[in-house]
Amino acid sequence: MQRLKNKVVIVTGAAGGMGAAIAKLFAEEGAKVLATDIQEEKLEAWVHAAKKVDGLLIEHMKHNVTSETDWKHVSEKAISLYGKINILVNNAGIFPGFVDCENTTIDIWGKVISINLTGPYIGCKTCIPYIKAAGGGSIINIASIAGMVGGNGTAYSASKGGLIALSRDLAITLAKDKIRVNTICPGAILTPMTEVLIKSPEMGEVIKHMAALGRVGESMEIAMGALYLAADESSYTTGTELVIDGGAISK
Ligand SMILES: NC(=O)c1ccc[n+]([C@@H]2O[C@H](COP(=O)([O-])OP(=O)(O)OC[C@H]3O[C@@H](n4cnc5c(N)ncnc54)[C@H](O)[C@@H]3O)[C@@H](O)[C@H]2O)c1
Repeated sequence: MQRLKNKVVIVTGAAGGMGAAIAKLFAEEGAKVLATDIQEEKLEAWVHAAKKVDGLLIEHMKHNVTSETDWKHVSEKAISLYGKINILVNNAGIFPGFVDCENTTIDIWGKVISINLTGPYIGCKTCIPYIKAAGGGSIINIASIAGMVGGNGTAYSASKGGLIALSRDLAITLAKDKIRVNTICPGAILTPMTEVLIKSPEMGEVIKHMAALGRVGESMEIAMGALYLAADESSYTTGTELVIDGGAISK
């Protein structure tokens, strides 16, 4: 089904994991996608194959989400390629491990907040005028259950909790412009970010059993949630957190 036909979408952190799954699914649903990441070669490899083999409408661009200049170039590229911006998915992020407060250096704190929270803020600030000009749209911020429950690393939790609060604030201030803003809060998902941890003999079983379903999730299970929030079917959904965690925080 072409749920996103003719919608123009920017997806950050799309070189692998959830970002690649979201960008590909959205393009399969008819969207015109600009996929970005700081890892350009990895991004280019799958986008090239998706365009060539699957005939999808996806372009790519190197992008550091902490840079205002990069965001300006990314938004201008989306406009020059496709003429408008309807949907922004702030997905890029880093996880420095389960580091508690006393072991969090100022450098780690600054880096995590800068990529996971300041990046989406700059992205929203840059793209909102274009989404307004398009008559409205949807912003989806990929947070984490770490923003809702403790024990997942001090800087990481603070960045994701901040992202939930940012999204709720934007949902209120942008409702008049027909822009919906929501977060997705994934539990443990098997991606390049978590692969080493999930596949380790010490942590693998513990992580699996954090979820009531007794397994980790897959990127496509997050992409399906993002598709719901991007599509017009979610027209009454704004300012909320879509938790996709196999029941982890209900345990
Ligand atoms: N995997 C999980 O279990 C899990 C759980 C909850 C939330 N999340 C969140 O989901 C999102 C996607 O993560 P993933 O699991 O797919 O991991 P991933 O490492 O595959 O993807 C994250 C991407 O962000 C990119 N990135 C990092 N710094 C960047 C920067 N400064 N500018 C642009 N791109 C940058 C990386 O190159 C990478 O491709 C992240 O925000 C992460 O915090 C992941």
